[in-house]
Amino acid sequence: MSVTIILGTQWGDEGKGKAIDTFAGDFDYVARYNGGNNAGHTIVNDYGTFKIHLTPSGVFYPNITALVGGGVVMDPAVMLEEIRSLLDAGVDLKNRLLISPRSHVIMPYHKVLDGLYEDAKGKGATGTTRRGIGPTFADKVSYNGIRWGDFADSSVFAARLEMQIALKNKIIVALGGEALAFDAIYDEYMGYYAQLKPFIRELFPIVQDGLKNGKKFLLEQAMGTCLDTDWGTYPFVTGSTTIASAATTGLGVPPREISQIIGIAKSYTTRVGGGPLPTEIFDDEFAIKTLSEVAATTGRIRRGGWFDVEVVRFATMISGIDALFLTKLDILSAFDEIKICTGYELDGKSVHYYDLDSYQLGRVTPIYETMPGWKSDICGIRDFVDLPPEAKAYVERIEELVGVKIGWVTNGPEREAIMAR
Ligand code: GDP
Ligand code: IMO
Ligand code: MG
Repeated sequence: MSVTIILGTQWGDEGKGKAIDTFAGDFDYVARYNGGNNAGHTIVNDYGTFKIHLTPSGVFYPNITALVGGGVVMDPAVMLEEIRSLLDAGVDLKNRLLISPRSHVIMPYHKVLDGLYEDAKGKGATGTTRRGIGPTFADKVSYNGIRWGDFADSSVFAARLEMQIALKNKIIVALGGEALAFDAIYDEYMGYYAQLKPFIRELFPIVQDGLKNGKKFLLEQAMGTCLDTDWGTYPFVTGSTTIASAATTGLGVPPREISQIIGIAKSYTTRVGGGPLPTEIFDDEFAIKTLSEVAATTGRIRRGGWFDVEVVRFATMISGIDALFLTKLDILSAFDEIKICTGYELDGKSVHYYDLDSYQLGRVTPIYETMPGWKSDICGIRDFVDLPPEAKAYVERIEELVGVKIGWVTNGPEREAIMAR
């Protein structure tokens, strides 16, 4: 039994790509099984710097097979572009990248609808990536989706596409958009299918055989806990499950096979798009500049704030996280003092993340503890014990407050910048 899940404990972009790239060398299979090309996982290794949206981040190790499970929704143009850039970088993909025929395909009308819904919501918009993710997952659960498996018989694909275009055009036109034409989409998508066909294969026997023969699986979840459709800050969430249970349906892994769950947490907090971020910094230009980042998928600016224990503790509980992987400690080197949010107050009462809906979470007063900064460059340090005492104290305090062991701390984007504890 060797299935390890890596998942985000905050609002995504915790550094999952780096964590997967660090660990994948010891595994036989690395799989994606939730989300879609809304994800952007940054990997910095000997092949270069990659912002990967659909391919499992472990693909750079020649010994692993990369699986894309049926729980992933896929824009084929993005998949093909990614395949091309990996091939250009010298990564061999033959029989090493396998895509489930159960995976739902993001169609042009999904992207159009994503944009129209967001525009219609105005100030209340979710701030989606506009990649068609929500509408594709909505079609999946309302039995209107088109899966890779449907392309095997072009008449099945044509019939399903024709029906969907007729339905979707009514909505698109009603919302002020332009109707889409069947022929162009049919040709475009059959063209994508022809190119992706060599990669499409039912994963069930592969996963089952692997489990039976003691192969090691590393499961790469996308997004973060607070973007989960059920447990995140609804409606400012994404269209798929982002807590550990996603693996069971998204790839087809029996729950009892899961042996380890590693939570990735950034040493501070970021979020991109709308919705509450209790520790967000609005009034300190230096902190805003230091903690905000450019999003890997959309190029938007990620909002930034201090580490939020409430959020990461909730994530560890809901997913049953065994150990944390704490990223980007080096970024905090710039601060004289560093704050940790240890809890929330709302209307004079102490409250928890799970007590609140999004709108209440947006009104909480974070309770902060302040720790001294270390104000020195820690980027080259490879052994935790060599960190300045203030940096060690910060990590140990987070560990104590969250209540889960921090197994690894990272201090740079590259593969080597990691301290195992
Ligand atoms: P993911 O979506 O969880 O894979 O994370 P992203 O790749 O979207 O965002 C994380 C960003 O942090 C990327 O630019 C990484 O290269 C970068 N990163 C990861 N770990 C570290 C670290 O320890 N220090 C620094 N400075 N950057 C890091
Ligand atoms: P990774 O895997 C950060 C956010 C969007 C938006 C909300 C809904 O790189 O951590 P969607 O397009 O999914 O319908 O948008 O979810 N979001 C992410 N934020 N990292 C991600 O992925 C995200 N994927 C979706 O910004 O707020
Ligand atoms: Mg990301």
